[in-house]
Amino acid sequence: MAMVQSAARRATGSSAALTLLLGAKMRLFPMGPVAGSRLVTIFSSCARSASTAADAAPEAGSFGAVAQPASGDNNKEKEAASYWGVAPTRVVKEDGTEWKWSCFRPWDTYEADLSIDLTKHHEPVTFGDKAARWAVKAMRWPTDLFFQRRYGCRAMMLETVAAVPGMVAGSVLHLRSLRRFEQSGGWVRALLEEAENERMHLMTFMEVARPRWHERAFVVAVQGVFLHAYLATYLVSPAAAHRVVGYLEEEAVHSYTEFLRDIDAGKIEDVPAPAIAVDYWRLRPGATLRDVVEVVRADEAHHRDVNHYASDIHRQGHALRDVAAPIGYH
Ligand SMILES: [Fe+2]
Ligand SMILES: [Fe+2]
Repeated sequence: MAMVQSAARRATGSSAALTLLLGAKMRLFPMGPVAGSRLVTIFSSCARSASTAADAAPEAGSFGAVAQPASGDNNKEKEAASYWGVAPTRVVKEDGTEWKWSCFRPWDTYEADLSIDLTKHHEPVTFGDKAARWAVKAMRWPTDLFFQRRYGCRAMMLETVAAVPGMVAGSVLHLRSLRRFEQSGGWVRALLEEAENERMHLMTFMEVARPRWHERAFVVAVQGVFLHAYLATYLVSPAAAHRVVGYLEEEAVHSYTEFLRDIDAGKIEDVPAPAIAVDYWRLRPGATLRDVVEVVRADEAHHRDVNHYASDIHRQGHALRDVAAPIGYH
């Protein structure tokens, strides 16, 4: 496990005080999958404290907002003076610029496995499989009608739904683990990872398509219905619920393939990739929307595999906790 350390200096604040603080309280993080990436410098909140202490100097025990230099997600990041010593960690890239995403950190980033087989399909066998396939096909019809070939908007809206199942299933298994005093086999983490990954898809597509008010209202309604429907399905038949998601992901792979086709045909402008996507998937500099859609499609194919696999485990008479979960499967 690589541990990376180097001096870091913010543009603001006294460099002498900063050096002292860094020497006194350097915090290291395991780099894990990000080792070898272009991000090399990690340091604790001391640096931020050094600059803000001089600027605002709130007394220990007091609590109030501290004026913050423009940085972070859309310059909206705030900092609060903390008596509790839980000020956010600061991360700096090797070029000296600050890591600006507080919603994910360098160790959450990865390079998508684009070699995954996009054509895999689970042939429905049982009645539950067929019902799941039918349900997904039925959901696709109004989606096609509503969005037609507006793939940017379509992707954004579908990701608001796609991020629900992993969170629901992960929460159910989490609570079950607590109630029954038993391990989850890693499935809680794997499913929550999927939910987070789907939410990052949404954060990305938000940058290329802005929802209008009626689309936001639509999302609220769909989430209300889908959340409860999926929870009920998961409690009654987790095998069927995972199968539904497996088929949803197959459809997602298909939709993103169509998206790519329209980009290649020049029907959709191949705009530069959003900065959040470049960092999250470690895309090359100069990456475009096409690169983003490709990596998102690869993610969907991985979700397809995980959910069909989970359903198969149930169908084979096992509990998920008995089979090690594919944690970190991207
Ligand atoms: Fe997604
Ligand atoms: Fe997905």
